[in-house]
Amino acid sequence: MKHTFGGPWTQIKLDLLGRYLCSFNRALQKSPSPSRPFTRIYIDAFAGTGECEIKTDEETVETIEGSAKIALQTTPAFDQIHLIDLNRAHVEELNKLAPVYGDRVRVHHDDANLAINKLLNMLDWNRCRGVLFLDPYGMTVPWTTLEKIAKTKALDVWYLFPLSAVYRQAANDFDKVDQSKSNSLDEVLGTTTWRDRFYQTTGQAGLLGEQEGKIRVFTPEDIAAFAQGQLADVFKGWVSDPLYLYSPTGAKLFALFCCISNPAPKAAGLAKSIASHILGKFGAPPKRKPAKSSASDPNFSLF
Ligand SMILES: C[S@@+](CC[C@H](N)C(=O)[O-])C[C@H]1O[C@@H](n2cnc3c(N)ncnc32)[C@H](O)[C@@H]1O
Repeated sequence: MKHTFGGPWTQIKLDLLGRYLCSFNRALQKSPSPSRPFTRIYIDAFAGTGECEIKTDEETVETIEGSAKIALQTTPAFDQIHLIDLNRAHVEELNKLAPVYGDRVRVHHDDANLAINKLLNMLDWNRCRGVLFLDPYGMTVPWTTLEKIAKTKALDVWYLFPLSAVYRQAANDFDKVDQSKSNSLDEVLGTTTWRDRFYQTTGQAGLLGEQEGKIRVFTPEDIAAFAQGQLADVFKGWVSDPLYLYSPTGAKLFALFCCISNPAPKAAGLAKSIASHILGKFGAPPKRKPAKSSASDPNFSLF
């Protein structure tokens, strides 16, 4: 089954994930002691099918290995791999893939937030350490899920924050942000304060005497910095600067964050140095292609 989504930015995100998974397993192989190391867990909350068909330019579609396959093939290997997806057809593909990698792999046909909750309650976080990849299509990770993950103090999270989706929901004119958009923004940002931070009053009452309007003054970079601050309130180990993933025309589509939940200086320092080293290899914006359509707009459609 073909799972077509994304573009050149998808490859960047997956390269980065693959490197982190290898380094993580290598670093923790003998920790806390060679005779009794931690059980190493990988949780892929939006696992897909194991393969992605990405559009590398207007004519070319390329098949690349998706996050699930990358994790399954990681050496040193994880002790447990949990692959979660809500789409039945995607789960069938994962079920074909999993047996090749032994009984350390579990496929969960479930909503990511529900499945994460179950796994977090099931595992002993004094004995386990892990990486959790949050790669949603859009604004589907509620803040409560991030809070629960952070409480383990044992998981390193790579979160593809849906920057352009947030920017799109937070319309320029505050009056256009209806109740459902406001609720989604509250949920994904974990606060209601964005109303005052993103927006300023225009200082002009309407011609018919209506109240002063409010317009958004926050840029996509400001929103990413705001999200980073929110994440840092919850993930006490470390939160990386955003790695922007760009459309071919240079619009910032996503902000990829590495969030370390373990606050212990030694563990957080190690994770930070591995992640920073890897993040340093990426991040330069692509050479801009001339915009043909609305694709230069951050509201550019991704899927
Ligand atoms: C961007 S794709 C993930 C791609 C995958 N990480 C890869 O590298 O191949 C998002 C995936 O999330 C799944 N999905 C969407 N909503 C979900 C939800 N609420 N819970 C779990 N999976 C969901 C979709 O079926 C899709 O496979």
